Amino acid sequence: MKTPPTTHSRIVAIGEHRPAATLSNDDLAARGVDTSDEWIRTRTGIQRRHIAGPDETVISMGADAAAKALANAGLSGSDIDLVVLATCSIARPIPGGAARIASGIGAARVGAFDVNAACGGFCYALSVASDAIRVGNANRAVVIGSEKLTDFIDWPDRGTSILFGDGAAAVVVERSDEPGIGPVAWGSDGDNFATVCIPDGDWAIRMDGPAVFRWATTQMAPVAARACELAGVELSDLAAFVPHQANMRIIDAMVRALKLPDNVVVARDIATTGNTSAASVPLALASLVNAGTVASGGVALLLAFGAGLTYAGQVVRVP
Ligand code: ACO
Repeated sequence: MKTPPTTHSRIVAIGEHRPAATLSNDDLAARGVDTSDEWIRTRTGIQRRHIAGPDETVISMGADAAAKALANAGLSGSDIDLVVLATCSIARPIPGGAARIASGIGAARVGAFDVNAACGGFCYALSVASDAIRVGNANRAVVIGSEKLTDFIDWPDRGTSILFGDGAAAVVVERSDEPGIGPVAWGSDGDNFATVCIPDGDWAIRMDGPAVFRWATTQMAPVAARACELAGVELSDLAAFVPHQANMRIIDAMVRALKLPDNVVVARDIATTGNTSAASVPLALASLVNAGTVASGGVALLLAFGAGLTYAGQVVRVP
């Protein structure tokens, strides 16, 4: 059997789609949610979140983000041969969304599939696409995180409705002579699936927030450290830390647990974006790239975690 030699992969560009409509904490309270701007800011760091309109779907937002990523790379759909969509909030599971996004961006007949690892999804999808390129199964991929979580929010449930937002971001990944995407550190804990889930007979996300909080603040720092170790990178080498944007206090706790050097830029996109599940890590990375906060070629640690429970992280070079 013939197998091609393995090579490396890298992210060459990023694109994002943030819905125009936003919902502030005061707007939530005005909708009748029993909460306040002061409570939400203090307990989560969230000030507002983007909310998809009726015409914005996981597929349309994902296609827009993917098209922008391609444009930023100076490429078109015909340059792509793999599309991977990370999502857990597609309206109907059959068919998945990746093939429709591929058609939408002019990447006809390419490999296309969805990954559902909830908030961990983007890092899983990036790893799978990277490996496909490294072993020669694809030359260039678009990896997308896209979520319309507000379809699964019960607004009066203040334990969830204050947290989530909608949006999408995408990266273009291609073959590289130098390593640009490190090995993934991933895992799961299905025994605790019920801490974040849509229960049987229900339609909305229900969550034991304090349990998820304890899990994230105690279990995720070692995963971050492992991702760095796998990539042969010291924490002091990092230009940026881009964790899942679940709660500002979780981000702060991870920074403390890792003893992250002060010069490492920490993504805090949650303040204006909320928790966008699989879109959260690429949106947070896009914020840093677009603001010029982290230079191209800098080393960033991505870390995502959420329902499943699932988690995954890897070190990447910033496009
Ligand atoms: N507004 C006002 N008061 C509130 C609110 C609210 N939105 N929510 C809870 N409270 C009250 C509670 O009733 C409680 O009051 P009491 O002391 O009188 O009983 C008090 O505030 C504290 O409640 P907790 O639930 O203990 O609050 P906590 O500080 O844990 O914050 C939160 C809740 C924000 C949900 C937090 O636990 C959290 O962020 N958890 C992690 C969520 C997460 O990371 N999810 C990721 C997975 S999502 C996915 O995968 C799709």
